[in-house]
Amino acid sequence: MKSKAAVLWGLNQEWSVEEIDVHGPKAKEVLVQWKAAGLCHSDEHLVTGDLVPPKEAWAFMGIEDFFPVIGGHEGAGVVIEVGPGVTSVKVGDHVSASFVPSCGRCRYCSTGRQNLCDAGAQTFIGGMITDGTHRHFARGDKPVTLMAKLGTFSEYSCVAEDSVIKVEQDIPFECVALVSCGVATGWGSATSRAGTQAGDTVVVVGIGGIGMNAVQGARMAGATRIIAIDPVEFKREKAMEFGATHTFSSMEEAIPAVMEMTWGQMADRVIMTPGVLRGEMMESGMTLAGKGGTVVVTAISPMMDSTASINLFQLAMWNKEIKGTIFGSLNPRADIPALLDMYRAGQLKLDELITKTYSIEQINEGYRAMRDGENLRGVIVYG
Ligand SMILES: NC(=O)c1ccc[n+]([C@@H]2O[C@H](COP(=O)([O-])OP(=O)(O)OC[C@H]3O[C@@H](n4cnc5c(N)ncnc54)[C@H](O)[C@@H]3O)[C@@H](O)[C@H]2O)c1
Ligand SMILES: [Zn+2]
Ligand SMILES: [Zn+2]
Repeated sequence: MKSKAAVLWGLNQEWSVEEIDVHGPKAKEVLVQWKAAGLCHSDEHLVTGDLVPPKEAWAFMGIEDFFPVIGGHEGAGVVIEVGPGVTSVKVGDHVSASFVPSCGRCRYCSTGRQNLCDAGAQTFIGGMITDGTHRHFARGDKPVTLMAKLGTFSEYSCVAEDSVIKVEQDIPFECVALVSCGVATGWGSATSRAGTQAGDTVVVVGIGGIGMNAVQGARMAGATRIIAIDPVEFKREKAMEFGATHTFSSMEEAIPAVMEMTWGQMADRVIMTPGVLRGEMMESGMTLAGKGGTVVVTAISPMMDSTASINLFQLAMWNKEIKGTIFGSLNPRADIPALLDMYRAGQLKLDELITKTYSIEQINEGYRAMRDGENLRGVIVYG
């Protein structure tokens, strides 16, 4: 079938909105009609190259050609066709995208760590997770890769059953789309990975679609002080509406203030969610954490960067820890429906995260707005 999609043909280019061909689902695959897709910063990392493996490594990784790629990994839609052997969803079901697939059988899935599913290792390889062949073709017969095996910047895409999660039909698609990455990742960074407890002081660095939800997670976990740091005033104002108790425009500005408000103890948890995490930013992030403090690295850094400024003496002597996280260390199959339930119960803000909606043709404008700090989240809504 034909589908309008936003395709990236190379580094530092605009998204090209064009018609592609989508083939039907084979075994363990489903065809999804996407209804909404969030504009997460991770797709921008494809454009800037932070998330693109170096060309020399492609052959080793089994990648024939990284580009073209259909963007989009935050999404919600309806299943319109299922291939043989699909059991978890049927035609007509509403589904959330899951940028980490969960097979349910690997060592990680079977020990409650679906965010580490072995099937996620194939994210950068060209074809389907199921059999390695392609279902999406552009400009004739050029195979197209899907961002995170999802490609939600397309009206339709064919994805593995393992990459979608059935959700209840009463929740708006835009809200499901946001939960599928940004909300879960931010919320889980504060709750699951950082382990925020009642009474804690929590610092969140970078208040975008991810960081705002780390603020929500810290609030729901009972933190006493939630310090939101972002250079953009609009983000700081909104952070207060989502539960922050203090805001600052930079980590350097926050350090003396956090020292004063905690009587020198500093923060229990620091969550790093800026658009791009540069190694040198870790020094201030670590300074914001006190004795026994936890620093969670959620934001993405350029893939090949391997240096960061960290005072190792303080790391050891102050008994601090640094933890990475993918998907906020949550389990997509359990936690996406659970977060939607919290929204239904009025505990989790989702509508308020959507600053503006766009058509797929307006995607480059949506990303410009993200870069310029105008949106908490922009969302593509398909007509
Ligand atoms: N670990 C994961 O599983 C996962 C999942 C999704 C996204 N991410 C990553 O999380 C990061 C945040 O994504 P997003 O969609 O929220 O991005 P965003 O662009 O919506 O928000 C980033 C925010 O960081 C702010 N910022 C930039 N530099 C800063 C600095 N030095 N100090 C404080 N704030 C700063 C910006 O003003 C902006 O408000 C990205 O790197 C994204 O790729 C990681
Ligand atoms: Zn994302
Ligand atoms: Zn698995």
